[in-house]
Amino acid sequence: MAKLIIEGGRPLKGQITVHGAKNAALPILAAAMLIPEPVRITNCPRLTDVENMAGILQALGCRVDWVEDGLLIDAGSARTAELPEVLAGSIRSSVFLLGPLLGRFGAAEAPFPGGCDIGNRPVDLHLKGFRAMGVKVDEASGRIRCLGRPRGGTEIALEYPSVGATENLLMAACGAEEDTVLVNPAREPEIDDLMAFLNGAGFDLKREGSSRIRVRGGRRGHSTSHVILPDRIETGTYLVAAAITGGHVLIRGGRKEHLSALLMTLREAGCRIRIEGTDLDVEGPERPRELRRLVTLPYPGFPTDMQSQVFALCTVAKGTSVLEENVFENRFCHGAELKRMGADCYVRGRTAVIRGVKGLRGAQVTAHDLRGGAALALAGLRAEGITVVNRAERIDRGYAKFAATLRDVGAAIRREDD
Ligand code: EPU
Repeated sequence: MAKLIIEGGRPLKGQITVHGAKNAALPILAAAMLIPEPVRITNCPRLTDVENMAGILQALGCRVDWVEDGLLIDAGSARTAELPEVLAGSIRSSVFLLGPLLGRFGAAEAPFPGGCDIGNRPVDLHLKGFRAMGVKVDEASGRIRCLGRPRGGTEIALEYPSVGATENLLMAACGAEEDTVLVNPAREPEIDDLMAFLNGAGFDLKREGSSRIRVRGGRRGHSTSHVILPDRIETGTYLVAAAITGGHVLIRGGRKEHLSALLMTLREAGCRIRIEGTDLDVEGPERPRELRRLVTLPYPGFPTDMQSQVFALCTVAKGTSVLEENVFENRFCHGAELKRMGADCYVRGRTAVIRGVKGLRGAQVTAHDLRGGAALALAGLRAEGITVVNRAERIDRGYAKFAATLRDVGAAIRREDD
């Protein structure tokens, strides 16, 4: 276990360079399983979730080597389609391997991923899609057993544009002999990065307008290399770090086109943001303005993965903000922790009401989930006195060198590991 110890009250100043996106890296690592030849994945962030996914690939018989800026994966030697219980239980995204294993071997077995601190997170849409492809799915005794090569020639309509289900079904469809059309797929940029990787490896996936993706059948995967796209949530988190401390930070390597909803929100809160190419220069206000109503939605709406950090920003706003969480049913655990720091907020179901206060004070708080943990650290950067964020290893799941990055721009933050 780890903790972050933060002495707040210092405006951040300097430059931060963004890493590759966790939520692109995870499905792309899984997709390597479809390809019986070596692939090179660069700009891959070395995070605990990514290391766990690499560990699962190794347990399935793949060769995985970390190189300078990423990973070499050779799934040619993979020999089993059964995911190891312990490792697979450690990350939810192990469920992404079902699609590629089905595409490659026509069989896959994994433990049920179960719920987590942000919601129940069922996988019914993934399994419904597999069944529509002719795969037999058995959910008895807490394991998911899938059998049968995905059959093409189908059109699968998702009742909700789930990110994970879209990725899983696209990967399974790569193993089919005929075309598959996915209707109402997720539109997150990480989906397009996965498609770019698969296309580079010889598969053929194309968006047809914004509401359909066609996967051509009968293709085989071959050796390729791919550069992971920059992490829009890491970019956003450091934008909010600058904003909440009234600092001035240049964030390098971001993609403004993936950040539209967040950039609008931060401008509404009073930030000055100048953009030149992939450089985002942000100056935070002395005290942010409130956000009258912010609603999280699937992309291109405001991302749920930025809700906690913006919640922290609203705690010191001039007025009252209202946040509505529409993606995960339990993503407000940081609210109670922020109250310990003097925040004035309450949560009813999927809505949080936050009355801005002049200042926060340091306190002992606990990270219940990755983004909520990051939000507590950001609040700690603003607060008077010392904040201790317990269970900070949860932040490692999504941010490479989080404390060191913030220290480089002037934060007084250190990490202690038990
Ligand atoms: N859902 C279902 N049934 C399903 C699948 C999803 O009901 O079969 C529900 C979920 O319970 C949730 C909603 O649909 O309420 C959205 O889930 P989605 O499948 O879109 O999300 P995910 O694939 O589980 C990914 C990211 C999350 C991110 C969401 C939404 C990865 C590894 N994870 O999760 O990232 O919040 O999309 O954008 O890509 C994070 O990085 O902190 C994180 C949680």
